[in-house]
Amino acid sequence: MAAAVHQPPEHVVKGAHVDSLAKYKDMYARSLSDPEGFWGEFASQFHWNKKWSTGADFHKYNFDLNKGGISLSWFNGAETNVCYNCVDRHVKEGNGDRVAFFWEGNDVGQATTTTYKELQDMVCQIANYMKSQGVGKGDDVTIYMPMVPELPAVMLACARIGAVFSVVFAGFSAESLAGRISDSSPKMVVTCSAVKRGPKHIELKKIVDEALQILDNEEELHIPRVLVYDHKASGVSRDAIQASPVEGRDVWWQDVIGDQSTDCEVTWVGAEDPLFKLYTSGSTGKPKGVLHTTAGYMIGAAATFNYVFDYKPDDIFWCTADCGWITGHSYVTFGPLLMGAKQVLFEGVPTYPDAGRCWEVCDKYGVTLFYTAPTAIRTLMACGEQHVTKHKRTSLRILGTVGEPINPEAWRWYYEVVGNSNVSVVDTWWQTETGAHMITPLPGATPMKPGSATLPFFGVEPAILDDKGNEVEGPGQGYLVIKRPWPSMMRTVAGDHPRFEQTYFSHYKGYYFTGDGARRDEDGYYWILGRVDDVINVSGHRIGTAEVESALVGHHLCAEAAVVPVDHPIKGQAIYAFVTLMNGIEYPPDESVRKELVAQVRKAIGPIATPDVIHWAPGLPKTRSGKIMRRVLRKIASKEEDQLGDTSTLADPGVVQVLLELRGK
Ligand code: WT7
Repeated sequence: MAAAVHQPPEHVVKGAHVDSLAKYKDMYARSLSDPEGFWGEFASQFHWNKKWSTGADFHKYNFDLNKGGISLSWFNGAETNVCYNCVDRHVKEGNGDRVAFFWEGNDVGQATTTTYKELQDMVCQIANYMKSQGVGKGDDVTIYMPMVPELPAVMLACARIGAVFSVVFAGFSAESLAGRISDSSPKMVVTCSAVKRGPKHIELKKIVDEALQILDNEEELHIPRVLVYDHKASGVSRDAIQASPVEGRDVWWQDVIGDQSTDCEVTWVGAEDPLFKLYTSGSTGKPKGVLHTTAGYMIGAAATFNYVFDYKPDDIFWCTADCGWITGHSYVTFGPLLMGAKQVLFEGVPTYPDAGRCWEVCDKYGVTLFYTAPTAIRTLMACGEQHVTKHKRTSLRILGTVGEPINPEAWRWYYEVVGNSNVSVVDTWWQTETGAHMITPLPGATPMKPGSATLPFFGVEPAILDDKGNEVEGPGQGYLVIKRPWPSMMRTVAGDHPRFEQTYFSHYKGYYFTGDGARRDEDGYYWILGRVDDVINVSGHRIGTAEVESALVGHHLCAEAAVVPVDHPIKGQAIYAFVTLMNGIEYPPDESVRKELVAQVRKAIGPIATPDVIHWAPGLPKTRSGKIMRRVLRKIASKEEDQLGDTSTLADPGVVQVLLELRGK
């Protein structure tokens, strides 16, 4: 049966930047045949201290490991500053009084507004303080903060002085934070006293203390300056937090920032100078620092924000993502501010105090463009329509989704119930590595099919490869790869270029390997099938199986662990761990062992990596060469043992029966 097709509603088409499929196709063709003209025209609305080189110098690359190292660059020769373009440019143009952030706190009634001028003042004060502490161009800063306006302001302050920031999601554990701090050796760590998330209080400063203590014990670190924002709205005051300031290291934000000058000269940086690192999980090893640079990232974030959300100056934008993820970088801090947008900055969670919070906030601010994740949509869907229909939602024009494949039922609920079948839904496929949207509908141009990310964005040339690495022509399915670089592409893994080449370019020579499988239909639409590597997508967050396994074997009772994804109705995928205990322990062991193992994972990574199931495994299915057969484990986890396939290569076929007997024990 052919999938249902929904045309963009007339009111969305009318006045859209791209208002027909034909226009999209023309622009797409030009973006590939004339990248310099296409991107140069879009980029000319921004401020450049020095223009880019033209012709062959504009953009260079090698995508083929057979032809040497992987490299790519855009806007060569140019100088600019992302902070200037996000903030100063708008103030200069007379828009200083325009609202940048409508901050909506965790609790109803907590709300502030920040104008572009106020943002500029705050950013300059932070930047001046950083400079006074010796932070300058090329230095690292780690940020561990909740969603308060000060968080994007710190990111922008770093960009202003050419410092390289790395935001660590404030839900990661002390050990995770320590790993990221140790990898980038920051001169400064910026954090917060505490935060309230839903009904829970979390003392962030204490977690930073623990992280630095871990590194101190390992003598791995010169001690950074720790700047602590006293977040009064969290309900835990500066005096009440349990972590006492460390002399000579910790400084309260409120004691030092307000005294700084609100003027801070911009440091002009080169197009390819680093802007930020963002750590993300892969199939092997520790998380990698995905490095993004200045000009290409800036243009990618701005262009996708402009076209994919069809942004116009009257819009009120709201992306629910946290700045700890790439979505919060590109569609809270950078894309919207680059375009001078007014946006909601939300600290809370969609179900607190009740499942109507999002729509209440939409009505309060007149949100026109709303962007969230399938897991949030499914959570709200399960809470019932009454939480939605109680609110008007008439301002909504475009609804976006990101993070994992959206199942057609959730898509339809989003479109019909939230959007009254009178919106465009943009299902945006992209990655931390891609910096910006890659495959997505354009709201005024692309007919929608529930569950499909549809067609490539400008400048993006995807392909599908079969098992042998040959391109699949026309309809078909296989590995999703990209054939040439786009401006906002990651440039390297921080400090480990070989790992960059190995992870993304060694599987199929000449292509960027996404790690996703995809199907292309008869209309050329892409349907993302999910990860094909050992990465689990839990509620839109990437967790490497290797990381969870290494956390589990860190427990003294665990001899071996194998982790696989299992489908989950709300989270998309959940973590399912097979655990072999040390010799001599009987199965099933005391219930306390399970609790300790789960706690161990939460401690090593964070609550998002909590295994849903621990399945006791006296033995694991292995090949004769000792390789764990994850395919077999996945089938057992999803109760599809009738489809185990060929198990004749198992070293000990008996282990399967033992595993089945221990299910649920
Ligand atoms: C992985 C990237 C990009 C921001 C959020 C996640 C999956 C992302 C979609 C989508 C199907 C999607 C992919 C991708 N993914 N968006 N619209 N449809 N799958 O960023 O943590 O870097 O994860 O998320 O598997 O590879 P990330």
